[in-house]
Amino acid sequence: MHKSILITGGAGFIGSHVVQLFVDKYPDYKIINLDALTYAGNLENLKSVQEASNYFFEKADIQDADLLKEIFEKHQITDVIHLAAESHVDRSITDPLAFVKTNVFGTVNLLNVAKEFWKENLQDHLFYHVSTDEVYGSLHDGGFFVETTPYDPQSPYSASKAASDHFVRAYANTYKMRTVVSNCSNNYGPNHFPEKLIPLCINNIKNNKPLPIYGKGENVRDWLFVKDHARAIDTVFHKGKAGETYNIGGFNEWKNIDIVRLLCQKMDEKLGREAGTSEQLITFVKDRAGHDLRYAIDSSKIKNELGWEPSLQFEEGIELTIDWYLSNQDWLDHVTSGSYQEYYKELYNA
Ligand code: NAD
Ligand code: DAU
Repeated sequence: MHKSILITGGAGFIGSHVVQLFVDKYPDYKIINLDALTYAGNLENLKSVQEASNYFFEKADIQDADLLKEIFEKHQITDVIHLAAESHVDRSITDPLAFVKTNVFGTVNLLNVAKEFWKENLQDHLFYHVSTDEVYGSLHDGGFFVETTPYDPQSPYSASKAASDHFVRAYANTYKMRTVVSNCSNNYGPNHFPEKLIPLCINNIKNNKPLPIYGKGENVRDWLFVKDHARAIDTVFHKGKAGETYNIGGFNEWKNIDIVRLLCQKMDEKLGREAGTSEQLITFVKDRAGHDLRYAIDSSKIKNELGWEPSLQFEEGIELTIDWYLSNQDWLDHVTSGSYQEYYKELYNA
């Protein structure tokens, strides 16, 4: 059957890489990017595909059922890859309801519209929900998150993503929709909005601004290059078993302070600064409320069952990332103008 795939959140960080991969790799598929273009959505991320004949853009909010129905009808949607979400933990602490609206209500709304549109032949369609490792909570005593780790979300963001995961599985169980869920660790790479640790530090080092490290910088995250996540999504979409969950991660754990020191060292080299210059910008600030200590994903299942593993070493990925930010000043200027300044002032008191 000809595929007409709705990718939600395709103008965001990860979504834009997924859209690019699918548009380029599958010229026979129709790829419809549905995005509300919030502060985090940016069509500049999609310049390379905007003229492609198999690419379509629909500006829409996943909370708007009528508009979703129209879009399903117009493009005869056969499958959904759902990435649209409010994604930033700090914003979820100041405005949890925005996360309930998009991540929970929006996801259920989308499930309903898909279920209704596909009701004659539910078994021919797939609803793929892209989620996060944060639903598993925080690791304190070693070990890794596996697919059977009990959910224990700790922030309003992770609680909203956990709720959306549960709804997807409930729709599979109750209405027999074909669904799949993947839970991924921290991504980094081009197009990453500079509210997140890595692009925020790259931008601040460049501008000689303080590097705010929450608490003592001892928290650990498992970093994966965004294009490897997009490849994993391609793999799960095509080879994953309906009803299953797949964990995606890089086996690449870093303490925040170590990753920031690495960025400082690499940026000093690239900017021709004396070694140690940028490290002086490191500033320890008040910890994030309820800050999860450690995330670490065991991605053996997707490797053993579907044959996916990361293609890029971290050293290589971080070089590529820094170089991308250094050569895309227009992109940075654009996304850090306007409301970003107010957000930054409020969160960091700076
Ligand atoms: P992002 O914040 O960069 O992008 C989110 C996109 O969703 C934006 O384009 C935004 O405009 C759109 N959007 C937001 N609300 C919407 C709504 N109501 N209707 C339609 N579109 C809306 O997020 P990201 O980092 O690219 O994350 C994408 C997905 O992957 C999210 O579901 C997130 O939970 C998940 N995830 C992210 C990471 C990570 O490290 N960034 C890791 C694992 C999973
Ligand atoms: O684990 C996957 C998750 O990774 C995704 O589901 C989320 O959408 C994504 O935002 C990301 O969440 P984190 O909270 O881990 O990412 P963030 O870049 O915000 O923070 C990474 C670590 O750095 C975390 O321990 C908090 C810390 N931090 C972050 C910021 C923004 C700082 O110390 N200072 C900062 O200014």
